[in-house]
Amino acid sequence: MALSEDPGGSLYLPKLAELLKVEPLSAKERLFQLRLSDGSRLDHKPGQFVEISVFGIGEAPMSISSSPTRGDLFELAVRAVGNLTRALHRLQPGDIVGIRGPFGNGFPVSELLRRDLLLVAGGIGLCPLRSMIQYAIDKREQFGRIILLYGCRQPAEQLFRGELREWRQRPDIEILESADRCPVDVAWEGSLGAITTLFPQLDIDPAKTTALVVGPPVMYRFVVAECLGKGVAKDQILLSLERRMKCGIGLCGHCQINNTYVCLDGPVFSYAELSKLREAEV
Ligand SMILES: Cc1cc2nc3c(=O)[nH]c(=O)nc-3n(C[C@H](O)[C@H](O)[C@H](O)COP(=O)(O)OP(=O)(O)OC[C@H]3O[C@@H](n4cnc5c(N)ncnc54)[C@H](O)[C@@H]3O)c2cc1C
Ligand code: FES
Repeated sequence: MALSEDPGGSLYLPKLAELLKVEPLSAKERLFQLRLSDGSRLDHKPGQFVEISVFGIGEAPMSISSSPTRGDLFELAVRAVGNLTRALHRLQPGDIVGIRGPFGNGFPVSELLRRDLLLVAGGIGLCPLRSMIQYAIDKREQFGRIILLYGCRQPAEQLFRGELREWRQRPDIEILESADRCPVDVAWEGSLGAITTLFPQLDIDPAKTTALVVGPPVMYRFVVAECLGKGVAKDQILLSLERRMKCGIGLCGHCQINNTYVCLDGPVFSYAELSKLREAEV
């Protein structure tokens, strides 16, 4: 919903949500399963985000990491980095948080139908992409190939390991994994090196492929170059930008790049669009 459609300012009012499950994903990330306390559905699209608040501490944007096809509950995967995220990590099932949203454009799901999806996730970038992967799995016949390239710093930092195991066993998902480094006593069947080391193994039909890329900003330039090198068109390379955000609804200007509000017009942009935004630095 745009601000112009919200004259009463309800977009600023968090809804209450109950934490149903809190599970460790790795040493730094936890998965939170939530339900809105008024019984309504979040009604989000893959790639959108919410503003989550811990009362008395503050608010932060978080990608929704589950698919809307998975029922009334939704999930957020949170890395503890500062005040708000550390406070979230201290919460337990039964605790109440505030939720605003869903916000942002999300992935253009209807334009992705029948396309081959090349999902490129760096580290915590798997969180928003997981929503899209679950969506495509649940509507499998509506999509072409599903190819996931997942890179992490070391194997112990992989997120959603149980789900990855299930995806690896499916004949209709192709997964290539990389780790920057791996301790000698850890078994690792993926590639060693940056995520770009996976591209030479890729055989895609660029005319049918849309790349969805989410990861740390440093990854984007190199991954975009690899996608272009494979022949994927600039408007078929989609990147999710993680800018500093406050309001999430196009009011405060924190996320602004030129005339574009990342919270409202993004966070998902095609490389063709981003090339025109001078400060986007991809
Ligand atoms: C659209 C969007 C989606 C996001 N999705 C997720 C997600 O799914 N999971 C997740 O764990 N995090 C996600 N983030 C990042 C998350 O919002 C920040 O980590 C959070 O705001 C930090 O709040 P804090 O109070 O804990 O940290 P602070 O005390 O504010 O900061 C602690 C440290 O984190 C850094 N930091 C703060 N905000 C950001 C940011 N936006 N990007 C990078 N570094 C930051 C600061 O520079 C500082 O070093 C997302 C951000 C955006 C904009
Ligand atoms: S976060 Fe306030 S304008 Fe985007």
